[in-house]
Amino acid sequence: MPGGPRDLSADQLGAILTEIGEEMSEREDRGRVASYIPELAGVDPARFGMALALPDGQVLSTGDAAVGFSIQSVSKVFALAIALGRLGDQLWDRVGREPSGNPFNSILQLEHENGIPRNPFINAGAIVVTDAILTGHPPKALLGEILDFIRDAAGDENIHINEAVARSETETGHLNMALAHFIAAHGNLRNPVEMVLGAYFHQCAIEMSCVQLARAGRFLIAAPGAPRIVSLARVRRINALMLTCGHYDASGDFAYRVGLPGKSGVGGGILAVAPGRAAIAVWSPGLNARGNSALGSEAMEMLAKRTGWSVFG
Ligand code: DON
Repeated sequence: MPGGPRDLSADQLGAILTEIGEEMSEREDRGRVASYIPELAGVDPARFGMALALPDGQVLSTGDAAVGFSIQSVSKVFALAIALGRLGDQLWDRVGREPSGNPFNSILQLEHENGIPRNPFINAGAIVVTDAILTGHPPKALLGEILDFIRDAAGDENIHINEAVARSETETGHLNMALAHFIAAHGNLRNPVEMVLGAYFHQCAIEMSCVQLARAGRFLIAAPGAPRIVSLARVRRINALMLTCGHYDASGDFAYRVGLPGKSGVGGGILAVAPGRAAIAVWSPGLNARGNSALGSEAMEMLAKRTGWSVFG
């Protein structure tokens, strides 16, 4: 069904999701589950879920869409929304807005660019964002604020941090420690490294299902009926960053294949936004070589094709 956005009924959208779920359940090559956070290594690679939330809150779903998973880097979207609300454009003195073309955990550019990370979605940038919103708050209060933001956005109180995942990453997160110390050495952290990383690891360890994540993403749809918890001007900018930087060194590929703003996480989740139409969440824990959900990326591509929802027409 190539060409042009289609106005699809909820039934038609539900049927598209069911088809995608069925096709995905037959796949044998499902990517590799992230193992550098040991607590994530045991997640069943056979899982697949997808949910689509319409502006009015109606949710359509398929597969394991009600099963909780570790949202990991998808949390960076919510942290960024809070940071822009708190600091406004001053945030951009400390973190850039350009794609990095490098893996999510790369340290390379930080040296050349004096500890100013390329964008808020690579790990280095997200650590700076977390530091920026931590200032003036004990870590527990900040984590409460992030959870409240997400619970409000989703209209669901039942969203929590998985402490075992946070602990697991704290024990093995040497690369993030290196990034944070490097940034601190350049004077771009305001709080102690251990405190910033503690908050960052806990933020990444938030657990949500596809249904909850799609509902929480509705504020990015910017359509009548969708929650307006962030100004439209800011929503436009968050979407621009998701499109250009949300999949790290695969951001261009995701834009080419899917054509929607999206943010991935190493837990295998992706949140994508079809502006004016829907928020879509997918989860399949096996990752591709770029650290993004293998089947999740494909499922988003199928959905964009079958709905004609690419922002590029
Ligand atoms: O900092 C990390 O390495 C993880 N907590 C999050 C990384 C991540 O999700 C990258 N996404 N694809």
